[in-house]
Amino acid sequence: MTVTVLGISGSPHRHGNTETLLDSFLEGAQAAGATVEKVVLKDLEYSPCRGCNACHKNGECVVKDDAILLFDKILASDCIAVASPIYTMGITAELKGVIDRGQYLWARKFILKTLYFPDEHIKHHKGLFISTAGQNWDHVFDGAFPAITAIFNGTGFEYYDNIIANNMDEFKGIKNHPTALKEAFFKGQKVVGVLEKLKSG
Ligand SMILES: Cc1cc2nc3c(=O)[nH]c(=O)nc-3n(C[C@H](O)[C@H](O)[C@H](O)COP(=O)(O)O)c2cc1C
Repeated sequence: MTVTVLGISGSPHRHGNTETLLDSFLEGAQAAGATVEKVVLKDLEYSPCRGCNACHKNGECVVKDDAILLFDKILASDCIAVASPIYTMGITAELKGVIDRGQYLWARKFILKTLYFPDEHIKHHKGLFISTAGQNWDHVFDGAFPAITAIFNGTGFEYYDNIIANNMDEFKGIKNHPTALKEAFFKGQKVVGVLEKLKSG
C-alpha cells in the first residue's frame, strides 16, 4: 500500500521560504513513491475555535467548515508535514487557528473517551515540523514546538522530526541556504522508506 503524505502550509506568504522548504520535502516523499498532497491554509475557509465547549458533549464541532475537512485528511494520512514560519516567536495565526479547532478530538480523547490511539498506530504515523525564521538565534523555534507537539498528539502522530532553518534574513531566503532544501528532500525520502517498511510488517 502506498504511503500517503499530507503537507500543510501555514504561511500566508505563497511560495515563500517555508512553503519552498515544504515543497522540497514533498518532492523527496514523492520521489520515494508516496502519494503526496499539499493543503495551503491561506486558501481554506475556517474560523477560530469559539470555545463553546459543545464538543465536550458529543465530540463534534458545531462549526462545519474547511477545518473539519482538513482534520479528516490528517487522520487519513500516514505522514503529515506541518509547516509554518516563525511569526512573533511562534507559529502563524493560520496554523494556530486550525490547531485550536482540533479541540473536538481532545474532547473525544479526554472527556468522552471515544478516541484512543494505540502505540502501534502512533508508530505508523509520522509527523514533521517544517519552519523558517528570520533571526540567527538557536532558540527561535522554541515557542512553536508545544503547539506542534499538541497537534501531533491530538491526531495520533509520532513527532518524528523537524526541518528548521533560521537566519533567513542574512541568507536572503531559503534558496541561498547551504543545506536546508537538500535536507528536506532527503528527509521526505527517508520518512517514506521508514513508513513503507512499517507497512510491510
Ligand atoms: C509578522 C511576522 C513576524 C515575524 N516574527 C519573527 C520572529 O519573531 N522571529 C524571527 O526569527 N523571524 C520572524 N519573522 C521572519 C520570518 O519568520 C521569516 O522571514 C520566514 O522565513 C518567513 O517565511 P515565509 O517566506 O514562508 O513567510 C517574522 C515575519 C513576519 C512577517
